[in-house]
Amino acid sequence: MRNTLAAVQSLFLPYIETSGISAFDENNPFPSTRYQGSKNKLTYWIWDNIKDLDFKTALDAFGGTGSVSHLLKRKGKQVFYNDILKFNHIIGKALIENDSAKLTDEDIDFLLSENKNKQDFIQKTFKGIYYTDEENAWLDNIIYNINQLNDEYKKAISFFALFQSCIIKRPYNLFHRANLYIRLSNVTRSFGNKTTWDKPFENYFRHFVAEANNAIFYNGLKCQSRNQDALDLDINDVDLLYLDTPYVSNKGIGANYLDFYHFLEGLADYENWGNKICDKYKHIPIKSDKKCPWIDKNQIASEFEKVIKKFRNSKMVISYRNDGIPSIQELFDIVDKYKDKVSVIYSRDYKYALSNSDVKEVLIIGQ
Ligand SMILES: C[S@@+](CC[C@H](N)C(=O)[O-])C[C@H]1O[C@@H](n2cnc3c(N)ncnc32)[C@H](O)[C@@H]1O
Repeated sequence: MRNTLAAVQSLFLPYIETSGISAFDENNPFPSTRYQGSKNKLTYWIWDNIKDLDFKTALDAFGGTGSVSHLLKRKGKQVFYNDILKFNHIIGKALIENDSAKLTDEDIDFLLSENKNKQDFIQKTFKGIYYTDEENAWLDNIIYNINQLNDEYKKAISFFALFQSCIIKRPYNLFHRANLYIRLSNVTRSFGNKTTWDKPFENYFRHFVAEANNAIFYNGLKCQSRNQDALDLDINDVDLLYLDTPYVSNKGIGANYLDFYHFLEGLADYENWGNKICDKYKHIPIKSDKKCPWIDKNQIASEFEKVIKKFRNSKMVISYRNDGIPSIQELFDIVDKYKDKVSVIYSRDYKYALSNSDVKEVLIIGQ
């Protein structure tokens, strides 16, 4: 080992806002999102700690909502966004790769119009599981209309707005349980917000289209959205690699993004959805052929090593939490094998949704 782990606690608090929109870079703010693990509320803190690194191109290999890609795009970098899930890749197309396409009022009117040809897959398959019958019919209709659009970027913005609308109307903002009853039962709750869940899809759809339209801009460089396993990417000469992988808790529980968001992955491939579902479970998830190694406590450290080794010629910035597997010391040791200089920065305490413990966000920077 060449470096020793001398952690710095960053003087800057993670940027925590209440409006749902990051307030810095007012010109093209990143849209609000309730995606699990999104760094949207931390982009100010991340930028503050990486702004002195010299780089022009960046790969966000586990891009999720694209909040970090969008930050780097705003900062004038050529960004390669990637995520293994198709629905996220579509979000990357809408907000990162897309330089100029926006949805007009006419497009929105078309998307919201009743279409006689719509199918009824969601109404039949997901009855009583996530949304009401009326909402399921609304989803079957809009997805039909979205798939009629010819412009791939307008289509992607429509999907983005649809996905965010679906997330915000779900208890816990997830699809991991068949729990529509939580929304509908008339009981006192210690969490969630019935008014938010019950607001019509159309209101949210219009809201998220406006947020997406506002986030679209050209930074002078061609950015891209990819849809691959990070280890299969053929991008070799990027200046900076940003890693924000799924997180495994110290109890060994991994964040299974396909299980959390299978419904959105299904919407992204509506025609083939029926062939992919697994109806032995009440929540009708999408079958997955192989277990994701990033959510296995026994495999995640070696996955980190593989991806760090693959991109050893790039500067790298890794986001993780101080209470997970692998530990920060283990991650530090892996980066130290491949990079000359390694530094570790801890945030002050950061409160996660659905978590009672105060944890720290950590950045490991290798140069
Ligand atoms: C913690 S989230 C990233 C959050 C993101 N930084 C943001 O701000 O929204 C991790 C992401 O990794 C993706 N993912 C999981 N396994 C992957 C793999 N092997 N290759 C690429 N992406 C993967 C998941 O779909 C998920 O969106």
